[in-house]
Amino acid sequence: MNERKISLAVVFLFPLLISSLAMKAKTVSNEDRVINLQTKDLSMIMTVGKDSTLYFHHFGRKIEDATPYLDKISYRRLDYGTDPHAYLAAGGRNYRNSALRVTHSDGDLNTELIYVQHEQQELSGGNVVMTTITMQDRKQPLKVELVVTAYREENVFTQKVNITNLQKKEVVLHNFYSSYLPVRAKKYYLNSFYGAWTQEMFMEESLLNHGVKSIENQMGVRTTHTENPSFVLSLDMPLNEHAGDVIGGALAWSGNYKINFQVDDFDILNITAGMNPYASEYFLDSGETFHTPEMIYTYSLNGAGGVSRNLHDWARRYQVYDADATRPTLLNSWEGAYFRFDEKTITDMIDDAADIGLEMFVLDDGWFGSKYPRNNDKQGLGDWQVIKDKLPRGIDYLANYAEEKGLQFGIWIEPEMVNPKSELAENHPDWVVKTEGRPIPTIRDQWLLDLTNPEVQDFVFGVFDDVMKQSDKISYIKWDANRHVESVGSAFLPADRQSHFWIKYTQGLYNVYERIRMKYPDVLIQACSSGGGRVEYGILKYHQEVWTSDNTDARSRIFIQYGTNMIYPALVIGSHVSVVPNHQSKNITPLKFRFDMAMSGRFGMELQPKNLSEEEKLFAKSAIENYKRIRDIVMQGDLYRIISPYEGKGLYALMYVSKDKKRAVVFDYCFEYQGRTHNSQSVKLFGLDPAKEYKVTELNVDKSNYWGNNKVVSGEYLINEGLNPKLEKMYESALFLLEEAN
Ligand code: DGJ
Repeated sequence: MNERKISLAVVFLFPLLISSLAMKAKTVSNEDRVINLQTKDLSMIMTVGKDSTLYFHHFGRKIEDATPYLDKISYRRLDYGTDPHAYLAAGGRNYRNSALRVTHSDGDLNTELIYVQHEQQELSGGNVVMTTITMQDRKQPLKVELVVTAYREENVFTQKVNITNLQKKEVVLHNFYSSYLPVRAKKYYLNSFYGAWTQEMFMEESLLNHGVKSIENQMGVRTTHTENPSFVLSLDMPLNEHAGDVIGGALAWSGNYKINFQVDDFDILNITAGMNPYASEYFLDSGETFHTPEMIYTYSLNGAGGVSRNLHDWARRYQVYDADATRPTLLNSWEGAYFRFDEKTITDMIDDAADIGLEMFVLDDGWFGSKYPRNNDKQGLGDWQVIKDKLPRGIDYLANYAEEKGLQFGIWIEPEMVNPKSELAENHPDWVVKTEGRPIPTIRDQWLLDLTNPEVQDFVFGVFDDVMKQSDKISYIKWDANRHVESVGSAFLPADRQSHFWIKYTQGLYNVYERIRMKYPDVLIQACSSGGGRVEYGILKYHQEVWTSDNTDARSRIFIQYGTNMIYPALVIGSHVSVVPNHQSKNITPLKFRFDMAMSGRFGMELQPKNLSEEEKLFAKSAIENYKRIRDIVMQGDLYRIISPYEGKGLYALMYVSKDKKRAVVFDYCFEYQGRTHNSQSVKLFGLDPAKEYKVTELNVDKSNYWGNNKVVSGEYLINEGLNPKLEKMYESALFLLEEAN
């Protein structure tokens, strides 16, 4: 982002004891005491109180003149806690869940933050304004910078803090959340995500009562299988797709996280979000600064749809790595070959992938190992030499073969992990996460490498680098991670710093990514973690996409992708057509239904193409052609959900509209028998220009009774009446392309 410092509003309130902050006394003007951060439609408002506390007043609809907040009378009795702060610290009069909790070097348990100054920087040609508000403890030399960044067009704010210890000795950080957000409404309906392996991102709504509800992860590495560090919070009424005030939140952190929702005795919802303090006391040395990850917030005035569109716009412009680059369609070898392949299997798959029009081939697990060849998941992980028996001419031969067929080439690695039965584990037992004298549990027969150790970071970088050196034709890496942390312990960290493990592991991973991105800025890297174990915005700063789930069943994907797409844009959602019965669910769905589902994300296939019939291959070929026609709309367009699968009718419909509203694509699915009720299945469209005429083309037609091909219909009609493909039978689906008619 190009940057410019636009203002420096420095307000010195009264003499402070901390010489290193070099502060002087000054009177504060009313203007300086109001901090009204704005985007196109929103305001986030804070004021500096007479007691120098930074109070938080408002996040929501835009308020141009926020000065009346200066005279707002407190609604709390002072002896029952204070009004909401902008960043709530433990101590003083506060008794609510605090964002920051510190034991100072002299044992003092209190922190009372007061405002010192704030400054603003304009970035990204003026679309982004970053405000850094400096605070410090009333007594102890502790500096806290609250950094709030406003993204104007996207209606997004991000928050993070930098905590600097200016004391002579170390302090202990117990809570170090990225943000504290107080919200005031009559009722709070929290929509969050839950799941497990093959069942990621299912969504559920709960009415928040008094007390605390948290969403969190304490497992490390695969942090998003069970819950996701994101939420959609509907104010006053249950979540509606198109109406109502709704807050969306997502944390960009690939380690343990925790988001707490505390409805307090004043009916205020206090949200604290950030790294999970679980077993993570952080000893901050004198002079050291602790940086938290970013918490992302948006506020929609038109329901859940607005939250998704804001987050997607922001993510594509500012967070997802290389979001503008076209994602190639691909064939992945995993479900088609697993560990059972040789060179011929792979070259045949490449031939078939080229025949049906795919653009990349990805060689999954099973290509490496020397003393312990990786012919199953029990051995060889960590030994990144090509198995000569399987692939005698190596990776370069395959990558060149793919290129000759017009395909890009990708390859699988899992560099953070090791099988006990491997040369790596034999040579470097001290690199394994473990606690001396305790058993080291395996998951999928593997252990985790200790990324807190810089030597291990070098090794992991080296794995990536060496694999890339196998061929200059490698343009995609699938980075997998198939276990989480158990029996936590690091041989590298000193005994009194073991609690730093959880944070240092993730920071170690980010160090490796930084090095990789310096050297390989263009390679497409998928984040996979037993499917959707790493679906969050921290990882997406380095990865172009995620593997959404190991469950490729199109029916299950309705729910998994509905949830994922609520927060993350379609271009990051790896979505593949596989065989039936599906290997995970055993469910049987028609090929069209599987294609129609996979085409609503980043499209790929994951099967043995030689097992497709000629008819199926022809269908696949034409569907892949169709995908290339609609890909830019799915990747970069505005998402409108039309029917939620949670409505309970066995229907799901969504659409993407290009930014200029000239093109749109509509996906409609039926996954329960509808009988004669299909006349009520109106698929009223959204986001179109009512004044435009659209030509409707049905894509992926697999039988003669198609539903309205090549008609020209007004946007007005499509918005008010819609399309009705009359889906009736289980797993019928329809896909429409709308193009402005000349
Ligand atoms: C788990 C991944 O999610 C799968 O897609 C596949 O890559 C396997 N690991 C390979 O071991």
